[in-house]
Order: sequence, then C-alpha cells, then structure tokens
Amino acid sequence: MKPSIFLAACVVLCLSTGAASAIDVAPAGAAACSGCHPVSRAIETPFTPLVGRNPTEIVTAIQEFRSGQRPGTVMDRIAKGFTDDEIKTIAAWYAAQKD
Ligand code: HEC
Repeated sequence: MKPSIFLAACVVLCLSTGAASAIDVAPAGAAACSGCHPVSRAIETPFTPLVGRNPTEIVTAIQEFRSGQRPGTVMDRIAKGFTDDEIKTIAAWYAAQKD
C-alpha cells in the first residue's frame, strides 16, 4: 500500500472511530437522569423515556421546566442544576441510544 493511501485510510478510520466513541460514552451528568429515565427501551419505568427522542425536544422541555413555564414535580428542580450546554450534550447522547 502506498503511504498516501494508508494515511488517507487512517484519517477516515480514526476520525469515524473517534466520533463514535465520543457519543457512546455517557457524558457527565447523564447518570443524574438515567436513574429515572432509563438508557434502554427494554427497561420499563413510569418515567417518560428519553432514548431515541429528538434532542431539541429534551432541551426545550428542560428550559421550560427551569423557567417554570412547564410544571414539574421533580424536573423543575433538576433542570436548575444543569447548564444548557450540559443538557444539550446529555440530550444528544440519549437521542443516539438505539436500544
Ligand atoms: C427523580 C427522577 C428523575 C430524574 C433524576 C430525572 N427526571 Fe426527568 N422526569 C421525571 C418526572 C417525574 C418527569 C415528569 C415531569 C415531573 O413530574 O417533573 C420527567 C420529565 C422529563 C422530561 C419531559 C418529558 C416529556 O416528554 O414530557 C424530560 C425532557 C426530562 N425529564 C429530562 C431529564 C433529564 C435530561 C434528566 C437529567 C438531567 C432528568 N430528566 C432527570 C423524573 C426524573
């Protein structure tokens, strides 16, 4: 294999693996949600599942809980503990879970 081809293949493979692992590892803070909102559809809980949900919906819901626009029993308090960036990362991770 010519070195240039090897290099190109490595760039493609390395970049794609890097992106995949970044989303597979639960981001900081996600464990604060997964006790109630399970990370798998196979687990049944009384709480709304977030797995596979549109991340924008999750972010909007959290912002509404935080502002008091959307009433909550616990989520209004939980929402206050996270920044928008943290919620965006958690929402993207939940959206990417397929099981
Ligand atoms: C103690 C259990 C608990 C934890 C922990 C928790 N939630 Fe919730 N979540 C709920 C309950 C209960 C509701 C329904 C609204 C309410 O009563 O507050 C809810 C509702 C939601 C909703 C709205 C779903 C919908 O479609 O109506 C979103 C989005 C959400 N939670 C995201 C999160 C995120 C993100 C985290 C972590 C930062 C989290 N939750 C942590 C219990 C929890």
